[in-house]
Amino acid sequence: MCGIIGYVGQQAAGPILLEGLQRLQYRGYDSSGIAVLDHDGALAVLKRAGQGALADAFPSAESIAAGRVGIGHTRWATHGGVTDRNAHPHSSTAGDVVVVHNGIVENYRALRDQLIEDGAEFVSETDTEVIPQLIAHHLRQGSDFPTALRATMATIEGGNSVVALHASDPQRLYAARKGNAGGIVIGFGEGEMFLASDMPALIPHTNRVRYLANGETARLSSAAVEIWDSDGNAAPTEPESIPLDPVAVAKGPYKHFMLKEIWEQPRALSDTIRGRARVDPGQVVLEDVPLSDDDLRRLRRVLIIGMGTSMHAGMLGRAYIERLGGLPADFDNSSEFRYREPLLGPETLVVSISQSGETIDTLGAMHHVKEAWNAPQITVCNVPGAATTRITDGSAIYLRCGPEIGVASTKTFTASMAALYLLACRIGVARGHLQPADLDDALGTLLAVPSLVDRMLQQSDRYEEIASQLPEASNLLYLGRGLHYPIAMEGALKCKEISYIHAEGYPAGEMKHGPIALIDRHTPTIAIALRDALYGKMCSNIQQVKARDGVVVAIGTEGDEELAAQVDHFIPVPATGELVAPFATAVPAQLLAYYLATLRGADVDQPRNLAKTVTVE
Ligand code: M6R
Repeated sequence: MCGIIGYVGQQAAGPILLEGLQRLQYRGYDSSGIAVLDHDGALAVLKRAGQGALADAFPSAESIAAGRVGIGHTRWATHGGVTDRNAHPHSSTAGDVVVVHNGIVENYRALRDQLIEDGAEFVSETDTEVIPQLIAHHLRQGSDFPTALRATMATIEGGNSVVALHASDPQRLYAARKGNAGGIVIGFGEGEMFLASDMPALIPHTNRVRYLANGETARLSSAAVEIWDSDGNAAPTEPESIPLDPVAVAKGPYKHFMLKEIWEQPRALSDTIRGRARVDPGQVVLEDVPLSDDDLRRLRRVLIIGMGTSMHAGMLGRAYIERLGGLPADFDNSSEFRYREPLLGPETLVVSISQSGETIDTLGAMHHVKEAWNAPQITVCNVPGAATTRITDGSAIYLRCGPEIGVASTKTFTASMAALYLLACRIGVARGHLQPADLDDALGTLLAVPSLVDRMLQQSDRYEEIASQLPEASNLLYLGRGLHYPIAMEGALKCKEISYIHAEGYPAGEMKHGPIALIDRHTPTIAIALRDALYGKMCSNIQQVKARDGVVVAIGTEGDEELAAQVDHFIPVPATGELVAPFATAVPAQLLAYYLATLRGADVDQPRNLAKTVTVE
């Protein structure tokens, strides 16, 4: 969950670390800290609880200035409160071993007790602190640093990534990775090397990278990288070049990354679809999905897994695979799925969705599928080479959205929907469920989605105005049916996470089974009621809310004056194909949440208690 950065080279490490941490704040921002080493082995540590506190303290920290080697960390607290002491880096008792860490040391209590018995002194409440203590313990036993680090990684349980410094080795930096928690990427510069938990921190410096694999340890100097596997055998160090657009990570003219990413959706959707949906004659090309027509014909079921926004996209994916693919489909929350005993087999295709490709619950579920069932897997992912794509041996539909920095996912939600729509078409054609004319139609409709989304964005002022007219609410309901039920869920999630207004998304038919008791004039309802097969039923649900004095914002079909007259606020959606209408209704769902949050002065890009990538359970 946390962000990690490391540097070794000829420049002053402090400013580079600080800048890297700024870029990584979407991974956690409860506290942050850095440690730097000068060439004489003098170690300086600066750490502070609170967002921005490190940057404030930095200019007066003279001890930091001389270091050319350093590590930094931005924390999302798991063990121990948000205090200066619990902030990373953490040190051994003698202070000569310093580490930053991402993950959870599951057996830390037993290790801590043992280390205390051996004379170690602990100053924090974190699980992390056992790591420098253990490394120091192995060094005292005569191990060199790479061996001590490897032995430590073998002792600690759980998924963990560690970056470390040793005062007796002042020109080098160490890293290790075990399990699926987070990742470590090594950046190769000219006469300098970098380490980071993920790519955004490296963007200003290099695009030549090597991801550390599970079980590997690495030693970096300004001129060289050495890597060993878990048995201590030398591993290849050759970097790969990753295409990066530095402009894509800047906010540009937008007040928040979230807003920028919402507005990027037409472009992002075009990029997801480009070259994959061809019409006249219709063809779907999923370049990184190796399943043949025969493989797809053998399938009996599709199971989609993901968390949060990705799971909501998966809910729509289920409908697409049923309707376009002609196959039974279901979705599940990865964290639930991985601890059930699901009955899968080679005839179930498992499709995981993860923007980051690093979400621990989804990785766990995918491992479970691989180990217990060896079912075929595809992943929908936004980050080339991410952990999910390694589990599927590269079988992936990349979203090609560019980095998503806002903690609240937006462009990757609609892009994941598009990816699943394409997959459903691919399955439908292979199985003969879609005839050529149907496929042409389905893909033609999808190709029009970027301009549909653009039209919805053009009403942005209206969404802001509606948000400003809603009563000061502490509860909000989002209602939808059919294809718009997942959008109601997603709208409510956006609202909760960035505005801190309690919001729930319901299938509208569920209202009378309990939630309607919440309705009064202080609880607005956002209802999605397009002129589709479920329109009449949605209108009845809206009437039920109005009859109880509820304020209703209806997202309805353009020109539906009858509905507009019945509700308090009306958001028109251009008439469009039923299957792609959720791409349109997603936009006001996202922007209403955004404006509700900004009107309350909330920190939209870094909402409290959250991190962009969830790498702990
Ligand atoms: O990277 P992933 O798509 O696997 O992340 C899954 C969820 O953590 C994520 O979708 C989360 O719910 C959103 N950031 C919420 O906006």
